Amino acid sequence: MKGLILSGGAGTRLRPITHTSAKQLVPVANKPVLFYGLEAMQAAGITQVGIVVGETRAEIEAAVGDGGRFGLEVTYLPQEAPLGLAHAVLIAEEFLDDEPFVMYLGDNLLKEGIAPFVRAFEQSAPDALILLQKVNDPSSYGIAELDGARVKRLVEKPPEPRSDLALVGVYLFTPAVFASVKAIAPSPRGELEITDAIQHMIDRGLRVEPHTVTGWWKDTGKLEDMLEANRLILGTIERDLRGEATDCTLEGAVQIGAGSVLERCTVRGPVVIGERCRLSDTYVGPYTAISDGVVVEQAEIEHSIILENSRICRLGARMADSLIGRDCVIAHSDALPVAYRFMVGDSSQIGIL
Ligand code: TTP
Repeated sequence: MKGLILSGGAGTRLRPITHTSAKQLVPVANKPVLFYGLEAMQAAGITQVGIVVGETRAEIEAAVGDGGRFGLEVTYLPQEAPLGLAHAVLIAEEFLDDEPFVMYLGDNLLKEGIAPFVRAFEQSAPDALILLQKVNDPSSYGIAELDGARVKRLVEKPPEPRSDLALVGVYLFTPAVFASVKAIAPSPRGELEITDAIQHMIDRGLRVEPHTVTGWWKDTGKLEDMLEANRLILGTIERDLRGEATDCTLEGAVQIGAGSVLERCTVRGPVVIGERCRLSDTYVGPYTAISDGVVVEQAEIEHSIILENSRICRLGARMADSLIGRDCVIAHSDALPVAYRFMVGDSSQIGIL
């Protein structure tokens, strides 16, 4: 069995972060989302993995390399434009070479990994196996209607859903899927939809089986879900102090990377602080992930993700539920008059509450 990880796409819902970098490389608990998928492949016994890449190919390649450090052999599959999940399957046909495969959306995270689903697929040998999870707002997802142990119908974001079983971003296919991705036409939004391809398989009389995911699943494609994924992963970390902490209170699961220095701080875990950070006179609250080289002075931060080399100083109020990109500066100065001064990239969001 081979692996196919989709790491192209436009990432419009995570702008402005995705104006400059790949959403699959945004760290969750200080590790790029994509790495969780690669590790899940390896843990399921898969070694040959194709990664579909788009505009951010160079960045993905620099981060993943040949896959050796994940115990994988990675092949990059350039997609000329984000023309849909089924289009990504289409361009991977030569790489997949008539083998069954797991397709994994590179911005998705599953608590239980994929090994149980790979085993289920091997045991019951359907033409395709899709993963499902109950959701509260089915009209925001691709939804499956079942007929016993078979999938009857898939509907993309139904206004009046007949089921609350959403499609999770992992699919297992036999090469029978290729005839279907070739047969379908682009949807009204101009993409070759994987739901249409799977529906085409069902309509051809092929066996598409559902498998329910019991552990948590997160699609990190938008801010709230990215923060939620960060919260879920941080909930599993253990205390590990490598940097220096002077006159600090460190409560619970706190990780501090090598070369980081904390002075007069209170850190209430779970929190991960990367390497070479400098924090002083600061409160860091639960579910915060601070990447390498970040500086924080006289601030309060919680339930947030801060990327490399940003600087946050004297905010005057607590920062919460935030995602801060790389090399950003958010600082309060003593200069008068008191005013906000912003230089903010396209599609940014600033909430003054
Ligand atoms: P989506 O999150 O569905 O699409 P997107 O990345 O274009 O994001 P947005 O809706 O915010 O604009 O994609 C799921 C995953 O699949 C993600 O990792 C990107 C990847 N992908 C491709 O590799 N090729 C594609 O053609 C598409 C549509 C997505």
